Amino acid sequence: MSTLTLTDVSKVYPGSSERSVDDVSMAIKDGEIIALLGSSGCGKTSTLRMVAGFESVTSGTIRIGDTVINRLKPSERNVAMAFEGYALYPPLKVRDNIAFSLLRGRTAKAEIDRRVKAVSDMLELGPMLEKFPPNLSGGQQQRVSLARALVRDASAYLLDEPMSQLEPQLRALLRARIKDHMTLHRMTTVIVTHDQTEAIALSDRVAVMDKGLLQQFGTPEDLRERPANLFVASFIGEPPMNLYTAEVGGGELVVLDERGTPAFRIPCQPGEFAGRRRLSIGIRPHRVHLGAPGNGAAGGSDALIPGEVLSNHWLGDHSHAGIGIGGCFLIAVADRHVEAGVGSQVVLRIPRDAIHIFDDETGLAVAHGLSA
Ligand SMILES: Nc1ncnc2c1ncn2[C@@H]1O[C@H](COP(=O)(O)OP(=O)(O)OP(=O)(O)O)[C@@H](O)[C@H]1O
Ligand SMILES: [Mg+2]
Repeated sequence: MSTLTLTDVSKVYPGSSERSVDDVSMAIKDGEIIALLGSSGCGKTSTLRMVAGFESVTSGTIRIGDTVINRLKPSERNVAMAFEGYALYPPLKVRDNIAFSLLRGRTAKAEIDRRVKAVSDMLELGPMLEKFPPNLSGGQQQRVSLARALVRDASAYLLDEPMSQLEPQLRALLRARIKDHMTLHRMTTVIVTHDQTEAIALSDRVAVMDKGLLQQFGTPEDLRERPANLFVASFIGEPPMNLYTAEVGGGELVVLDERGTPAFRIPCQPGEFAGRRRLSIGIRPHRVHLGAPGNGAAGGSDALIPGEVLSNHWLGDHSHAGIGIGGCFLIAVADRHVEAGVGSQVVLRIPRDAIHIFDDETGLAVAHGLSA
């Protein structure tokens, strides 16, 4: 069983007082593909390098199956890694770079050739096999590095930004091929990326990190529909969630603008957030429906809020509208052409299940959706 389990794993680099990775725990199932997603410096590469054995673990335990691997040498872990900086061997042809780890083992020559051909075809590297790495472009070198990891029979595959240098078309093509390949061969895989589209397209679950801390580890749907905290709510989604501060009134949430002035009201059940004075609320741009004034009543118990169109852009297959509601600003996304011009009055219809509630101080999620 190639499960990969991290328990309370931390990394403090020598000379630093900060934890670059802070008590990260996650269990990756046999054959599961997960993405480590987060901004630059959040600890993604450090986490991968500890799993691969190129960095020591300051505290915590890493297991493959039931075996603790913390103290094993990289070569004893049977983990394949594609590095952020490629790390190819310049004097070796592409073919031999890809086959490198197989050439050191007991794999028969014909089998090595078969595997190198399969993986280089998959990554569009066929014509480059007889070249040397210094004569390749950055994107080609990156694919060689990826091929060198994927060609192996490893317990886990660690891919650090494996497609960051590729143009969008090739990236989309290879993403689909790589996902099929990994799923077919039940490869337990961690892919590092800061591109959420890539994370969601490639993986079964996504681990979102910020400042060394694991913020949430869940399916793409979990992250979108049930963000664990304000960080995930604001990090996932394009454009991100609209976020506001609200005061709890009797039977309504009074949303405040940046100066603390009431901007609009959302009805809720009396006593729904009893014991709380302030909350943060989040509304996903894709869940806001725009209608003309007077047309909104069809929404039943949905919140109906009047606003003014401040901007409206058609982006080829959907519209982004910026709406002013009192002193608040809200982005709404519609998958149709929104006709309303700048300055026109609209009514926003927001389904009750699209309103996310977070603790004002801790940022932790309190509820996803208001009671009907
Ligand atoms: N060898 C090192 N010595 C000291 N500090 C380091 C070292 N490597 C990384 N760090 C620090 O650890 C933190 C996390 O770095 P890491 O490389 O893991 O981030 P990352 O999420 O991979 O970022 P990026 O998306 O830019 O690659 C950063 O603050 C970085 O400065
Ligand atoms: Mg990195």
